[in-house]
Amino acid sequence: MPNRCVCNAAVPDDEFARDVASGLARAPKRLPSKYFYDAEGSRLFERICEQPEYYLTRVELALMQTHVADIAAQLGPGVRLVEYGSGAGIKTRLLLGQLKAPAGYVPVEISALALQASVAAIAAELPQLPVRPVCADFTRAHVLPDLPVISARTVIYFPGSTLGNFDSDAALRLLRQMRAEMGAAGAAVIGIDLEKDRATLEAAYNDAAGVTAAFTLNLLTRINRELDGNFDCAGFAHRAHYNAIAARIETAIVSRRDQAVCVAGRRYHFAAGEAMAVEISSKYRLDGFERLAARAGLVVSRHWADAARSFAIVLLQPVRA
Ligand code: AVJ
Repeated sequence: MPNRCVCNAAVPDDEFARDVASGLARAPKRLPSKYFYDAEGSRLFERICEQPEYYLTRVELALMQTHVADIAAQLGPGVRLVEYGSGAGIKTRLLLGQLKAPAGYVPVEISALALQASVAAIAAELPQLPVRPVCADFTRAHVLPDLPVISARTVIYFPGSTLGNFDSDAALRLLRQMRAEMGAAGAAVIGIDLEKDRATLEAAYNDAAGVTAAFTLNLLTRINRELDGNFDCAGFAHRAHYNAIAARIETAIVSRRDQAVCVAGRRYHFAAGEAMAVEISSKYRLDGFERLAARAGLVVSRHWADAARSFAIVLLQPVRA
């Protein structure tokens, strides 16, 4: 049990504070990966995408470049494109640029700053396209705004293998939410990282330049700044290991020594070598993903993968009744 700390401070009553307090109090300790993405974390993630070991971004972008016309043709005209998470990256702009008479673009993103940036990026490239940003956590129910023209169908775009950050129960919940949001005529286009050899996977999450380590440990810096914490970042290490049974990279922050940390007026103990779970990045096999999708009432109607079958973009549609 954490006790009251002497070095006290005002406790901001927000979700981040609550999640950190409960995550540090559990055994084993665990923090949600969604909190990686403050301004510095988002900048570090962009740099991860440029590391030679982190193949995901490059392979997915190459798939989009090769197949975007085919993907857009599958989606047809009049699409309302709803993107989950920080959007309007180059992949999104490629897709929007190829869609026939899109009804509009609806980025759903919790960070107002990231949302603004994606709206600006789209406006610069596609000034005619109606854009209706939604500032919300995409895992929560949200109301989708109307567009100036009635759309033929809603298509949810969820690139980057971000679905992999959810455990199978949460991924199923999210797929069911997508199924409800897209309606009977809808579809989803999702990027998924595929199972492969351990060495390739572990290298991708332990880049030689140490950018992923800095990205992971930035969570402690964020806690220090926003929740009045006193983590000594040098006293902790990044660890990413492939759990082949669960088919996922499991990232932890490991305490290098026995130490106590205060956060928002509470004190937490870390044993030497104690691991705090901070992220999972699930890897899929196409057949396993199809079974998961089926449980959400969705069918993989098409997929596009590279020759090495390292990453796939899947097109999901509602199972016909
Ligand atoms: C943005 C969720 C796709 O899990 O591969 C990259 C985040 N974490 N390196 C992933 C991440 C460490 C990334 N996603």
